[in-house]
Amino acid sequence: MTSILFIGDVVGRTGRRVVRRLLPGLREELEVAFVVANGENAAGGIGITPKEAEELFALGVDVITLGNHTYRHREVWPYLDRQPNILRPANFLRTQPGRGTCVVERDGASLGVVNLSGNLYMQAGSPALVTVDDALREVEGADHVLVDMHAEATSEKVALGWYLDGRVTAVVGTHTHVPTADARVLPGGTAYITDVGMTGARGGVIGVRREQSIAVMRTHMPMRYDSSDEDPWINAVLIRCSQRGRADSIEQILRPIPE
Ligand SMILES: [Fe+2]
Ligand SMILES: [Fe+2]
Repeated sequence: MTSILFIGDVVGRTGRRVVRRLLPGLREELEVAFVVANGENAAGGIGITPKEAEELFALGVDVITLGNHTYRHREVWPYLDRQPNILRPANFLRTQPGRGTCVVERDGASLGVVNLSGNLYMQAGSPALVTVDDALREVEGADHVLVDMHAEATSEKVALGWYLDGRVTAVVGTHTHVPTADARVLPGGTAYITDVGMTGARGGVIGVRREQSIAVMRTHMPMRYDSSDEDPWINAVLIRCSQRGRADSIEQILRPIPE
C-alpha cells in the first residue's frame, strides 16, 4: 500500500505556513508516503525562488511542480537545472531551463512525476496530449506515476485524464486555485481530479487580497497585488494505491489550519 498526497498551488507566505502547520499531522494521520506540491505561487504569490523551494523540501515535500509562473524570478532559472526534484512543464520549449519529469524513491517504492502545461490561454511549446507520451517514457520504470496538468481549460484536463486512464496512477489538475467536485478513479484505474485547488488564504480572490482584486475589476486600473492571509486552508488530494501503477481511491483533503 502506498499513498500520495498532492498539495494544490501553495500561495505565498500563508500557503507555506499552512504546509508547515498541517503537513506533519496529515502525514501521520493519513499514512502518507509521497508528497508532491505545486509551488508556482510560493514566492509572494507569483513564482518561486530557491529559498521557498528549499523551505518546501525541508517540510517534507518530495517533488515540487510548477506552471505558467515558473520563470517569474530569475534566481530560480539555474536552480531548475540543478535540483532534480523541482519540475517545470515537460511541454515547455527545450531551450527553457529545467526539466519536466523526475523519479523519487521512498521505503523501496518509486514515484515518477510528470508536470505538463495546458495549451489554451497558456504559453506552452508543444501540445500537452502529444508530449506526454515522451514524458511518460522518462518515468517508465517507476512503481507509480503522477501527472500534474497545470491548465486553465477544464476540457484539456478531462481529455488528458481519459487519454492516460489505465496508464498512470493519477492525473491531477492545477492552476485555477478552485477545487472541483469530480475526484474519482476512472474505469482503467487512474485517479483523476480536474483541479485540486489552492493552499493559501481562502479569504482572498484566488490568493490575492480581495479588496485589491475587486478594485481592479471595478476601476480597470492597475494596482499592486498582495497575497491575502485571511482564512488559510490546505487544498490537497490523497491517492491510495495497492497495485502497481493504479489507484484504489482519491480523496479531497480540504481543511483550515486550527485556530
Ligand atoms: Fe497557481
Ligand atoms: Fe498557474
